[in-house]
This record gives sequence, C-alpha cells and structure tokens, in this order.
Amino acid sequence: MSTNPVVFVLNGPNLNLLGMREPEIYGTDTLDDIAGRLDDQARELGFDIDFRQSNHEGHLVDWLHEAQAVGAKAVLINAGAYTHTSIALHDAIKSIKVPVIEVHLSDPMKREAFRHISYVGMVAHSCFAGHGAKSYELALDAAARL
Ligand code: DQA
Repeated sequence: MSTNPVVFVLNGPNLNLLGMREPEIYGTDTLDDIAGRLDDQARELGFDIDFRQSNHEGHLVDWLHEAQAVGAKAVLINAGAYTHTSIALHDAIKSIKVPVIEVHLSDPMKREAFRHISYVGMVAHSCFAGHGAKSYELALDAAARL
C-alpha cells in the first residue's frame, strides 16, 4: 500500500458531463481525461490522488470531512454551481484544517453576475480559474508547494 500523501480532488454537479457539456465554455476533455492527467502529475510529485465527483451537495460535505479524517495533504474542489450557493460547503471548508484550493475550468468572474459570488472562495486557500482543464494541474502544483 502507498504511503504517499493524499490529495482529494472533489468535483460537483454536472462535471460528470464534461466533454459534451457546453464545450465552448468548458472544453472537450472529459472528467476521466482530467483525472488521468492529474494522476500522472501526482505520481511525479509523490502524491496519491483521490478523485471524486457527485451531483449531491451532502456528498461533497462528507468528503471534505473525510479529507480531514484521513489526514489528506490538501483538497482541490471544483464545486460547480454549488460554489455560488452553498453555505454548507463554506462551513465545511471552515470546519477542517486541510487546505482547500478552489478550481474552475472557466473564470466565473467573467461570466454571469450570479457566478460572481463564491462561498467556496471566501474560505479557500487560493483559486485557479479560467485555464480550462489546466486549472486542475496548476492547483495540484500549488498543493505540492503548501
Ligand atoms: C464551473 C463554473 C461554475 O459557475 C459552473 O456552475 C460549473 C463549472 C467551472 O469549472 O468553470 O458547473 O465550476
């Protein structure tokens, strides 16, 4: 069994549809493509990745708690639309000591006004947004430097 530090990568609603979902905004990579590349990158950095997706807010809350319970080094989270609505995720991030890095494929600040509030970003360590799938890779590099 690996003794490498673990980084949780949590993905929220509708991100299971990446590849076919609004490719002009989110690109053509699927979530599996992103997970595969992150796995390679993590191996080079000496981490293990625990990559998950759910369309349910409570799963994301539970997984943030789990990251703390298992001593994860960091959490990368693309909370999808819950970014802009979820006080539960905001509170969960505040409740744990594990550093949480916010990730978005698009740049929500350059989109509709309802995307300009981030309940995740208010309590996250940092944010990588607007670089397409590369946002995840930049965030993982940042996690490695924490
Ligand atoms: C997103 C941006 C959110 O505003 C949106 O609801 C998503 C995807 C992104 O990765 O660009 O589902 O988090």
